[in-house]
Amino acid sequence: MAEAYYKQHWIEIEPERHAAYDQILAFHPAMDPLIRPLDLSPGQRVLDVGSGPGHTTFELARRVSPGGRVTGVDINAEFIARSKARAREHAVTTEFVQAGFPPLPFPDASFDRVFCKNVLEYVDSAVDTVAEMARVAAPGATVVATDSDWDMLALDIGEEGRELSDRVLTAAKSIAIKEPRIGRRLRGIFTKVGLTEVKTEVLAGADVVGRSLPMLTASLARYARDSGLVGAEETARWLKMVEAAIGARTFLFVLPQFVVRGMKKMSP
Ligand SMILES: C[S@@+](CC[C@H](N)C(=O)[O-])C[C@H]1O[C@@H](n2cnc3c(N)ncnc32)[C@H](O)[C@@H]1O
Repeated sequence: MAEAYYKQHWIEIEPERHAAYDQILAFHPAMDPLIRPLDLSPGQRVLDVGSGPGHTTFELARRVSPGGRVTGVDINAEFIARSKARAREHAVTTEFVQAGFPPLPFPDASFDRVFCKNVLEYVDSAVDTVAEMARVAAPGATVVATDSDWDMLALDIGEEGRELSDRVLTAAKSIAIKEPRIGRRLRGIFTKVGLTEVKTEVLAGADVVGRSLPMLTASLARYARDSGLVGAEETARWLKMVEAAIGARTFLFVLPQFVVRGMKKMSP
């Protein structure tokens, strides 16, 4: 493998996983609290750091239209190609750039708003990436990062599934996520890189109907298998227990999202 697993699994994404991400990362109005701290208005230049399939990028672009422009940047070539193709269906101004970061391939002070959602857990250095987000933000710009804290994840599929759940989740985290505690670390990182007026919110909606099943199937079960710490038969058994709990209405999944906002200082 050319890169560490936590990076490589984003460079190479097979077609079934692309299909799953279109579901998992679709924009939904319930995600509004993640975007609201950006305080978007028409005409702004926005950067979406790790734009993935682009569904959130297009929502950002809608909110800065007319006159605004959103740039998405991502390491995965297919995400960028699909986003460019989708741009034709949206009457908004977007641009998509393929690049691994850090560093970010943009000049200093070139954006009014910088946004990053569920990406910083995967990069080689979250501190260097947030420092880059601050560098490309214009004086007075708002920077927002929202990310999970995987060590605060709560999953219940019944007591009989507890031990296996713990093993599957630990195995998945061990290879696929560089920084599982990124949620709780964001506030300190924002302050460290010189962003000011840092505000933190934690959103922790409970999935009790199985909306997270595509993520558990396409991401976590697969990562656990790839780790070699849990066998294919065991991950299949775990997914069956998850599905049974969803069917029995006893399922619970909570993955808290930290939403952190900071401001780039005005020039002295
Ligand atoms: C969970 S997805 C989130 C996508 C998007 N922000 C969203 O919420 O819809 C994580 C994204 O980060 C990108 N990514 C991960 N590591 C990266 C890196 N080192 N450089 C650039 N992009 C990266 C992946 O390709 C993927 O699109």
